[in-house]
Amino acid sequence: MKSIKEINFAGKKVLLRVDFNVPMDDQKRITDDTRMRESMPTIEKLLADGAAVIIMAHFGRPKKGGFEPELTLEPVAKYLETLVGRPVRFTQQLLGSGVPEQMARDLKGGEVMLLENIRFYPGETKGDEELARQLADLGDCYINDAFGAAHREHSSTAVIARFFPQAKYFGFLMENEVRNLEKLMHDAPRPFTAIIGGSKVSSKIGILENLLDKVDNMIIIGGMRYTFTKALGGRIGNSICEDDKLDLARELMRRMDEKGVCYYLPVDSVIGDKFSNDANTQIVPSGEVPDGWESMDCGPDSCRAIHDIVLASKTILWNGPAGVFELATFAKGTHSIASSVAEACKQGCFAAVGGGDSVAAVKQMGIADQMSYVSTGGGAMLEYLEGKVLPGIKAIQD
Ligand code: 3PG
Repeated sequence: MKSIKEINFAGKKVLLRVDFNVPMDDQKRITDDTRMRESMPTIEKLLADGAAVIIMAHFGRPKKGGFEPELTLEPVAKYLETLVGRPVRFTQQLLGSGVPEQMARDLKGGEVMLLENIRFYPGETKGDEELARQLADLGDCYINDAFGAAHREHSSTAVIARFFPQAKYFGFLMENEVRNLEKLMHDAPRPFTAIIGGSKVSSKIGILENLLDKVDNMIIIGGMRYTFTKALGGRIGNSICEDDKLDLARELMRRMDEKGVCYYLPVDSVIGDKFSNDANTQIVPSGEVPDGWESMDCGPDSCRAIHDIVLASKTILWNGPAGVFELATFAKGTHSIASSVAEACKQGCFAAVGGGDSVAAVKQMGIADQMSYVSTGGGAMLEYLEGKVLPGIKAIQD
């Protein structure tokens, strides 16, 4: 499969699908532009070649089947102008009105246009072929740079590729995500350590199972670890737990033993008497949380043990925080892991960080650029790590 690096898009009208589903405050100001910045190398390459770039993107999850003012991409179009340093043509009119069609026809080499929120078309999320054809009619070739939406089999993320059997490509962001994830899943230098957190075992079962055959160490952190601690007979007080997953936790531990995976559960916990920064706190052994108290972070002994495992690793995958890191009182465990992973990277370890909360943690600490790779995908990365085929990737590779 050709990389866009090898192609000159001069004179072409390029349909580019990106994931500009960025967080905004109530003034419609973008609060984290990472996804947009990460697609800039692709956009810049196309503009430098002299292509006319027609961008497709979604925002939120529109429900009404048509234009919704609160979900317009207009603020994104304005912000994009500051990134590309030139006007971005934009209309809130939808396809069928003739307005975006004319705008696309008039678009010249070196110019950019952004279509209105692609999910305003009810067909998009259904993978409607007619919508895909309407979109395909606007351009000469298709580039998918929307890794964050690659797990969706939608008209603009997957179905449209059928209309360009000889002219469909990954953008640089997508290429980078796929290369890094492939390395992680199929070619990871050992020892390979997975650090998996988050609040629920149930949302991470797929990843835990898929990683069993791949990793040497599995560090289980975050809220989900209390289900494991309880399954081992520990007292967890009021800590979150999925009682219907205790057998599953036992089964996962049995399988890790069987496969020789060293699993690590934090030995100590920071507990609080309420879910708040001004809670009273104590540090206790993880299986001895008194009633009325809730464990909300891992303790210092655990941080030291995790540090040692991380520093002895050649590959790390980190998905999910260690505790309630959005409350400063319970953020030390997550911050400690982030620092350990950054230190391992300095020593040549390959570390991938994915999942909204762990990515937010490394950004909050200002050390995202010290990681080998930070994924732009939330659900997409999870599904990839579960071993699923992502339709947005498959549509280009087929
Ligand atoms: C995301 O924000 O994870 C992607 O843009 C996908 O959004 P979705 O979960 O609404 O499909």
